[in-house]
Amino acid sequence: MNDRAPGASGPLQPDALRKRLAAGRFGKRIFYLPETGSTNVFAYRRAQEGGAEGEIVIAETQTHGKGRLGRQWVSPPYMNLYMSVILRPTLAPADTPQITLASAVALAETVESFASFRPEIKWPNDILVERKKLAGILAESCCDRSRVLFVIVGIGVNLNFPLESMPERIRERATSLWMLTRKPVDRTAFAGQLIQNLDRCYGDLAEKGFAFTAQRWESYFRLKGERVRVELPDQPICGKALGVDADGALLVEEEGGRIRRVVAGDVNPVEP
Ligand code: BTN
Repeated sequence: MNDRAPGASGPLQPDALRKRLAAGRFGKRIFYLPETGSTNVFAYRRAQEGGAEGEIVIAETQTHGKGRLGRQWVSPPYMNLYMSVILRPTLAPADTPQITLASAVALAETVESFASFRPEIKWPNDILVERKKLAGILAESCCDRSRVLFVIVGIGVNLNFPLESMPERIRERATSLWMLTRKPVDRTAFAGQLIQNLDRCYGDLAEKGFAFTAQRWESYFRLKGERVRVELPDQPICGKALGVDADGALLVEEEGGRIRRVVAGDVNPVEP
């Protein structure tokens, strides 16, 4: 243990995880990898080869962890959670953002159950605490013309990541559960809880409909009703954040009452 980087704990316990998840739909098959390029890439290939819904890929470290918008996800070994799940939803391609929002609810609930604070969701799927990023989700889907063949939901959570192990460039905007609570997190227990919550939230989406998921998502969305600025490829827009519509798009009411649907872009509060 002494030669490990600060914050590193022992390896994850895949057998304990399998045992815990035996009765659920998710996690019946878990690929546990000491190292991979990206768990999303591994899971995507598995899905192309016929991998079943609920298969999980977890790596101790990623050499090419992928973030949204082509960014890199910093993935040092034995500290955090890097995980991807294969889903095969019966949804129209346009509705796949609903999966990301349901996953964000599951992730926020898991964080909340491991800490004494409520995280917030930054649209569409960043998990923030004290305005710093604790976790992120990268969903990648494969569709034909009319249906979704599969969706890979990739989740990265900073668990026992100390500030001194973070690259300089992310220190200002990233946080970890260890930094927030000063208590080491049992990564196997966190992964187990997260997978069970994903299973439930995904089931709720199918059984209770998107309105139910959207309501829970909005309960973590701190910017609801606030003035925001959205960076769009052509030019930014400003307005009041109203919530999400049935496609998972963010609804922003501009001055004058025009409602804009935002499907991609960075959203930030406008300080009064
Ligand atoms: C984001 O930019 O907020 C999304 C980050 C997603 C990172 C996770 S780590 C596990 C999975 N594998 C990847 O390569 N990326 C996702």
